[in-house]
Amino acid sequence: MSQQVALITGGASGIGLAAAKALAHAGFHVVIADIQTAAAEAAVGQLRSEQLSASAVTLDVSNEDAWRAAIDSVEKDLGRLDVLVNNAGLGEGGTLASTTLKAFNRVMAVNVNGVFLGCKYGIPLMERSGGGSVINVSSIFGIVSDQLTLAYSASKGAVRTLTKSLALDCADRGNGVRVNSIHPGFIETPMVMNAAAATPAEVIDPYVARTVGQTPMGRFGQPDELGDVIAFLASDASRFMTGSEVTVDGGFTAR
Ligand code: NAI
Repeated sequence: MSQQVALITGGASGIGLAAAKALAHAGFHVVIADIQTAAAEAAVGQLRSEQLSASAVTLDVSNEDAWRAAIDSVEKDLGRLDVLVNNAGLGEGGTLASTTLKAFNRVMAVNVNGVFLGCKYGIPLMERSGGGSVINVSSIFGIVSDQLTLAYSASKGAVRTLTKSLALDCADRGNGVRVNSIHPGFIETPMVMNAAAATPAEVIDPYVARTVGQTPMGRFGQPDELGDVIAFLASDASRFMTGSEVTVDGGFTAR
């Protein structure tokens, strides 16, 4: 197959769905890999209705066997992998007092092991395809933090430095694979909006006001604003970038 292929984990919703749309519009065949099979298939239907090229695969990113099977099916059905967006993530809140080891491990399994496994199985196929671009979705909480996001911040910090190790490894091996991380600020996705809806107004309203107040551009971001940056990192326009951490946060971390 000559059309380039991009696999996006968590591609059925939010930032992942926006990335899938942007990459499909940029000419990639997009593989939407998500634990929510029906939502992934609905997203594929939406893209195909716009004459874009897409398919779905059911994947739990924390499961090594599932990764092996997903990458095998991409190689068998599509013959190559050029872009891997490790986007699937859990956005769980919690302080030191409220976070159990079980909850901590659950966040790590998806947010860190999921990225590690994606690279472990995806990069060799990208290498066999002649190189490519990996985009790992971290967070502003991989750079700065909040006492309310203990496990989440730990996981996103790990994604930031895991990305740099992988970038160095790929450059050293000269395999043509670039690896960068992106660090979104507060983005209006189902993850954020559902968490907000489930939180009492007297807690969420001041939190939102404080967060928007701390964002120099004075608003939350939209998923397509991440999709466009992911498409840039996937493209040749970013060909001298590897190991970079790209903030997309309306200036939140500039202070
Ligand atoms: P979302 O909840 O809208 O979408 C996440 C997607 O990941 C869903 O489709 C879900 O089914 C999928 N998913 C969850 N666990 C999975 C697993 N084990 N295997 C495969 N798929 C799985 O969330 P959103 O906001 O689009 O988040 C995407 C990424 O962006 C996450 O890594 C998140 O931490 C990160 N992020 C989001 C920010 C925001 O403000 N929305 C800010 C900074 C980072």
